[in-house]
Amino acid sequence: MAIQWFPGHMNKAKKELQERLGEIDVVIEMLDARLPASSANPMIAQLAKRKPSIKALNKQDLADPAVTRQWLDWYRKPGTIAIGLDASEKSPAQKLIEACMDVAPNRGTIDKPLRVVICGIPNVGKSTLINSITGRRIAKTGNEPGITKGQQRIMLCDEIELFDTPGMLWPKIVVPQGGYNLAASGAVGRNAMDEEEVALELLAYLMRYYGKELDARYNIGDIAGLQDWQVMEQIGKKRGAILPGGRINIQKTAELILTDFRSGATGRLTLERPDEWRAWEKAAKEA
Ligand code: G4P
Repeated sequence: MAIQWFPGHMNKAKKELQERLGEIDVVIEMLDARLPASSANPMIAQLAKRKPSIKALNKQDLADPAVTRQWLDWYRKPGTIAIGLDASEKSPAQKLIEACMDVAPNRGTIDKPLRVVICGIPNVGKSTLINSITGRRIAKTGNEPGITKGQQRIMLCDEIELFDTPGMLWPKIVVPQGGYNLAASGAVGRNAMDEEEVALELLAYLMRYYGKELDARYNIGDIAGLQDWQVMEQIGKKRGAILPGGRINIQKTAELILTDFRSGATGRLTLERPDEWRAWEKAAKEA
């Protein structure tokens, strides 16, 4: 596998989550809407199997809306509610309250508030959401995963108490494509990846589904029949990533492709679809 990712403290996080879940009524798992399955930590689903749960597909402003709808349908089942979210949401607390009421109706009271935990891998947007709910900057936000943040407890309303993730829930790479998608999104540390390889994988996927967006961003015209590395060279040329002697600066080109994807400059893009994910999982099991 190309992404070398050895997250630490997984067992500690698992123990903390397990202990905390005993007293929790509803689990909100925050996912990245551009890579919902890859950004899930399977440990959460496993530990929270019997709890009402909410899948919050965050950063939906960066994701392909049609594919987000597919994922929301895929996640919805008895006991699970799926919602789309993004940082521009005017009243995220209200949205979460409604989802909690739907998934665990008539459970919270003023005397015994519903206890809800919010979990998710680093960089998925938990602090941003909590800051927006509280109206304060109480949690540190940062794009490089790895910063441990303190425990928090917030009253969403009189009947619902929200807890922040216990411990650090690192992503788990369960299929190779998931590793690339996590790396492309910035959810795994820079040292774990070869940016050129990640950018090429990203480009190959975008060429398949988002040729129009690539052309609009990089003005590369018709890419039919081109290989991913040829498109990468074209992008480098167009963007002036040239080394002395006229060769394309591939490292710089890879970085700009990744930066453009992460910021949404290339458009609203999603890197996996439910049917693809199923096929990747099957292939990984058979391998
Ligand atoms: P975490 O607590 O789960 O680790 O994630 P955090 O809130 O720190 O968010 C990680 C990055 O994702 C931040 O960017 C944040 O602004 C961005 N983000 C969070 N939610 C959304 C969303 O719904 N849409 C978009 N487009 N971005 C979102 P950053 O560059 O590290 O920070 P900053 O530039 O906002 O200061």
